Amino acid sequence: MGIVHGRAGAGNVGRREILEAREYEIGEDGGNMLVLLNSNYEELSREAARIVAGAVRSKPNATLGLATGSTTVGMYKELVRLHQVEGLDFSRVVTFNLDEYLGLAPKHPQSFHCFMTENFFSHVNVAARNIHIPDGTIGGDYEEYCAAYERAIYEAGGIDVQILGIGRNGHIGFNEPTSSFGSRTRLKVLTSETIEDNRKFFGPGEEMPECAITMGIGTILEAKKILLLATGEAKAETVAEAIEGPITASVTASCLQLHPDVTFVIDEAAGARLKQRGYYRRVMEMTARFTPNRLS
Ligand code: GLP
Repeated sequence: MGIVHGRAGAGNVGRREILEAREYEIGEDGGNMLVLLNSNYEELSREAARIVAGAVRSKPNATLGLATGSTTVGMYKELVRLHQVEGLDFSRVVTFNLDEYLGLAPKHPQSFHCFMTENFFSHVNVAARNIHIPDGTIGGDYEEYCAAYERAIYEAGGIDVQILGIGRNGHIGFNEPTSSFGSRTRLKVLTSETIEDNRKFFGPGEEMPECAITMGIGTILEAKKILLLATGEAKAETVAEAIEGPITASVTASCLQLHPDVTFVIDEAAGARLKQRGYYRRVMEMTARFTPNRLS
């Protein structure tokens, strides 16, 4: 299948116009942060898929911001099931992936292109022309390429639902610690921690990319709705820092505390270091009672 690499849409829209057009749309409940504590990975995957499916049903031409990483696999599997069994229709959906390793061709087995094809796109009916993933093989004018990716997001009407995972060091996309909260899609140098974490996916002796193209924190924060998925105890510390710690570029996921419609969809193990677990459960119950739309 052909995949568009986000070159499309290089119109002459100015940066200021883009920023002005991307004001937050705060929901009827005024905007808030929710923590959905699930008992295990299967449940969190179903919950995340349910929310994405709800967004697609209510807006069939929704723009989805997509993430890779092992955490998202279960959610994609459930979305594929909903497509195949319940006819969930992605034919008008537009997608933008967060990131791609620099230097990896789309066919490279460890590329995020390949991940998306294997886990999602080859099983559902997203139109090839509506798929955007940064091209890891571009050489030359990276700034122009990244600006065109931003313009394509703008021309698609902005991102309706942005899916995120989280790195052990608190990164979202490949926005490593100390990334600017105003950053846009750009070339990013990976930290040695991220390189080590992801080396296991590459063969012995195979060179691991040291850079990536990633949407910026500023790009992510302009999504209308954000879901962050996290599973397992290895993420517990960083999840607690992101949700309950200070807002700091040292844990870039903590920027989500500034967003008016963010939901952390996590399991018990990933939430084990949260101090306010009991409170989040009560908030969930009250939300289900008073503002159930916030959970859809
Ligand atoms: C990579 C991706 C992130 C993802 C992270 C966590 O660094 N760029 O978007 O969140 O991996 O991956 P995993 O879910 O495998 O822990």
